[in-house]
Amino acid sequence: MAVISALAVLSCTTKTNNMPEGSTALRSPDGKLELRFAVTEAGVPEYSLSREGAAVILPSSLGYELIGLDDLRDGFALDDTAYNTFDEVWEPVWGEEASIRNHYNELLVTLSKAPRKEGGKPTVMKVRFRLYDDGLGFRYEFPMENSLTYFNVKEELTEFALTGDHTAWWISGDYDTQEYNYTESRLSEIASHSAGMRLSNASQTQISPNAVQTALQMKTDDGLYINIHEAAVLDYPTTNLDLDPRSMTLRTWLTPDAEGVKGRLQAPCHSPWRTVMVCASATDVLASRLILNLNEPCALEDVSWIHPVKYMGVWWEMITGKSSWSYTDDYPSVQLGVTDYAKSNPHGHHGANNENVRRYIDFAAENGFDGLLIEGWNEGWEDWFGAQKDYVFDFVTPYPDFDLPALNAYAHARGIRLIMHHESSSSTVNYERHMEAAYSLMDKYGYNAVKSGYVGNIIPYGEHHYSQPLINHYHYAIVEAAKHHIMVNAHEAVRPTGLCRTWPNMIGNESAMGTEFRSAINPGHTTILPFTRLQGGPMDYTPGIFEQDMSVTAPGQEGKMRHTLANQLGLYVTFYSPLQMAADLPENYARFMDAFQFIKDVAVDWDKSIYLQAEPGAYIVTARHPKLSTLNKAAEGTSSLPDGKVGIVNNATRFVYALSEKASARELSKVRARDVWYVGGVTDENEREVSFALDFLKPGLKYEATLYADAPDADFETNPQAYTITHSVVSSEDSLTVRMARAGGFALSLREK
Ligand code: NOJ
Ligand code: CA
Repeated sequence: MAVISALAVLSCTTKTNNMPEGSTALRSPDGKLELRFAVTEAGVPEYSLSREGAAVILPSSLGYELIGLDDLRDGFALDDTAYNTFDEVWEPVWGEEASIRNHYNELLVTLSKAPRKEGGKPTVMKVRFRLYDDGLGFRYEFPMENSLTYFNVKEELTEFALTGDHTAWWISGDYDTQEYNYTESRLSEIASHSAGMRLSNASQTQISPNAVQTALQMKTDDGLYINIHEAAVLDYPTTNLDLDPRSMTLRTWLTPDAEGVKGRLQAPCHSPWRTVMVCASATDVLASRLILNLNEPCALEDVSWIHPVKYMGVWWEMITGKSSWSYTDDYPSVQLGVTDYAKSNPHGHHGANNENVRRYIDFAAENGFDGLLIEGWNEGWEDWFGAQKDYVFDFVTPYPDFDLPALNAYAHARGIRLIMHHESSSSTVNYERHMEAAYSLMDKYGYNAVKSGYVGNIIPYGEHHYSQPLINHYHYAIVEAAKHHIMVNAHEAVRPTGLCRTWPNMIGNESAMGTEFRSAINPGHTTILPFTRLQGGPMDYTPGIFEQDMSVTAPGQEGKMRHTLANQLGLYVTFYSPLQMAADLPENYARFMDAFQFIKDVAVDWDKSIYLQAEPGAYIVTARHPKLSTLNKAAEGTSSLPDGKVGIVNNATRFVYALSEKASARELSKVRARDVWYVGGVTDENEREVSFALDFLKPGLKYEATLYADAPDADFETNPQAYTITHSVVSSEDSLTVRMARAGGFALSLREK
């Protein structure tokens, strides 16, 4: 329940941060952050932000440049200021903790410009500021009573004037992809590095050499962590941030649509939130829920059909080139409804064939997984890529060697749900025309999750992956999926901005460089993503690659991934996602079943997360406690135990986490819940030793610790598969010291004895 109480307001007239006399101020609930707002003599709205008296954002202007209308950059008068305080605790459907506090102080300023003509309406623009203990959110609002009704944006003029040449972790500004390695550099060095960031990508539109994408993580020389992002981007383009290196000022740079318009607005409306997270430590950045809190509460009444998912896929074998998505080499091009696949000659290396899919189902079922993704099941893959075809897939017609009803029946009988794949090839017009039939087919055969994809340039031609029409498309796909009780994991879609709070069926997104980039991924990439990409929502990073040498996985292929095996285990804890893949091939896991045990055991939904140690671009160590009420449905469910008791059991390991809620009082009194924690660590290209106290464990209990660590001679370049598994008994009074090899890591399970 939301509690709206009296306001916490400050009125001030001093000149901190050089704001004009008479500026309006707002403090965070803990009093440490202070926002100031003023309108300059020229009528320019400005804000600034400080923490404990030290400037974080210097006076920065707000406004818009419009197409064919007067700009919204100056000439404003401040009509009204209104304050509010809000404090609530809400429970995410899935997440890193069972409950999240949403506590902020709010300032709403109303600005107006006099009508141009007598009798006309004034131009009204409001700015709503929400100040949390860990940062600021603000957005523009345009009420109905306004001279502006329909208006098109030339550019949003929001500034973030920084206090210095901070260290930054960034990827290049781009209208179409986030699939880049991150660079760590001073802000002033962005331009000199950005051209070198280009990787081959099916759709890439870099913009200014000084532009970067949100979320931008920075660190000041005084050790303050500042993160600039956006929240709740809906019906509005996504922004880049363009740096003016002379003034160290970042400016919004929106993604244009095919006609160059950067937002078509209709009052009443509002922009997404612009956010400035300010934290004293890197672990506080990981613990921040600023972006989620700025999103609207859950829009769904019934969420019982939404489940965290641990899955495998007929996928890595296509990514590595061992097999293919396509079925035949007979035709230079195919046309759905015309090409008769049944009469073609299969080329013999189609991954999604009945026999191979059954092999994966068996392996996934034996090892307690919930789901299995199958790509390349449907007709059209022969010329899906590069041709920029409009009608490329119909999403309902399987290849002749993929027996959709039979394979689903086979999977369901073994407790596995198949995960549907819809590669749109970025023809969103084609995807939308087939969407209802595609989702209905899923309903008919019992698919409850889809991985969608947007590879290549967008159709409608000229649109970008992050322009307003595409933002609306991704949202439409989520909302329509919810009507069918379908969970969505979209690849190449826009980076998430916390919308999973409102639409928790959005259980995954790629929207960054994931393991599919194989040897191109820099060591340390995964120590940055939780600070940047994951601030907006979970990522389908697809961890768990045990075989780094691609020539072993797919004979004839080249390249070595730059991580150790233990590093991949650590990711299941350091990377939060309710949708977690074991991405490697069954045959690669079969060679390391003792290490694979951790992937089988680890939970994917948590009631508590503790960020023990972190530094972007260097290392992350995280401890998490599983949420018992929404355990993995297939891997962990209510089971009858051999002695007649009823408990929540990991079906793969038979470990009893807790009693079922359905257990009777008598049963409850007989069997006590056993506690469990998981800890994971990852490091960059530097080897390092980490020590941490186990004081998060329940005092007085003994836990069996199983540590999966890099062996002493492990190294990502020379010996990536060398690991040790050690067992010990520990309590909350103990500490552990673990060495991580270069690009290494560790995983630890702690089970009450
Ligand atoms: C790119 C996605 O990221 C990848 O996971 C998928 O396999 C291919 N597109 C094909 O859809
Ligand atoms: Ca991708």
